[in-house]
Amino acid sequence: MKKRIAVLPGDGIGPEVIKQAVKVMDAIANRYNHEFITDYALMGAIAIDETGNPLPQETIDICRMADAVLFGAIGDPKYDNDPSAKVRPEQGLLRLRKELGLYANIRPVRLFSPLVDRSPLKEERIKGTDLVVYRELTSGIYFGDKGRLEGGRAAFDTCYYHEDEIVRIATMAFEAAGRRRHKLTLVDKANVLESSRLWREVVQKMAKDYPSVEVDYLFVDNAAMQVVQNPSQFDVILTGNMFGDIISDETSVITGSIGLLPSASLGEATSLFEPIHGSYPQAAGKDIANPLATILSLAMLLEHFGLLEEAKRVEQAVELVIAKGLVTPDLNADNFISCSKVGDVVAMMVESDLDEDTSFDNIFEGNLPLI
Ligand code: IPM
Ligand code: MG
Repeated sequence: MKKRIAVLPGDGIGPEVIKQAVKVMDAIANRYNHEFITDYALMGAIAIDETGNPLPQETIDICRMADAVLFGAIGDPKYDNDPSAKVRPEQGLLRLRKELGLYANIRPVRLFSPLVDRSPLKEERIKGTDLVVYRELTSGIYFGDKGRLEGGRAAFDTCYYHEDEIVRIATMAFEAAGRRRHKLTLVDKANVLESSRLWREVVQKMAKDYPSVEVDYLFVDNAAMQVVQNPSQFDVILTGNMFGDIISDETSVITGSIGLLPSASLGEATSLFEPIHGSYPQAAGKDIANPLATILSLAMLLEHFGLLEEAKRVEQAVELVIAKGLVTPDLNADNFISCSKVGDVVAMMVESDLDEDTSFDNIFEGNLPLI
């Protein structure tokens, strides 16, 4: 298979984690005889520094031409601490989501059994967690009317949803529930917000067409509690843009590290794959960031192309590095390897026939295992 991939490393640890995912992508290409042509482009603070624009037109064109986009991370503290900044890195990602019509952000949360003790939550609470968040990504309070009033002394953001925007993501979520464990939970704030009441109305109507799917409704404050109290009750969580942003970071606590959670953003044009974590500026350039979320996002990209065996292979390699304890400091502060080494090992596992019995003892001395 021949595919064009737009690669947007972005800011902070973005370039480091992307580099590892690209290593793994090359390994897949070698092993399975595919050709992945990469086109690198700028987005975020780096794009502001180089062009003054967080999303240059050239980047949009490259993404549109590509079969998929692989993206690292966005954000820089110099903008976070300056609320009056006119241009912000995040605008790049938001505009790209809108440009590509990426209305569905899919965030699977899966527990890796060797990491159960890494989670601050008790094992008996998190055992069996296997859920996926379907987050609406191109509307809601992120994109509604916003502005300042009274000479800047008052501000507003509007949460707007159109029925059609709810139907298209809800359709994907219902279908996912049908393929999974047949349970869908709508997370909203229908006891307060009109837009949430519209979500409920639409989802209730649609539920009739999916009789095999059991539908549950939770207010977001209750959901915030339930996802850490009893996460295994969830199968598919369907929610709006802002609630999905918050709930999905919260669910990462279950897995032990936000550095493990991948995502896929699908919609009208080219799909985009990115880890859910941010740019983690404190770690940038130190080769300590966890690349597994980005590598697992690559697995989602491969699956999207229908390369199921290839995607499985990447996932299995990730499972194996975790099982072998070959992880970055976020997962084991006492015994860890670097970000680039995790990338090397995953790439190697993908390309060769390694299994549980392969020795990785010499990885810590800087050598890759000889096979
Ligand atoms: C995410 C991020 C983004 C969001 C930011 C960087 C704009 O937090 O993808 O979850 O809020 O959507
Ligand atoms: Mg977020």
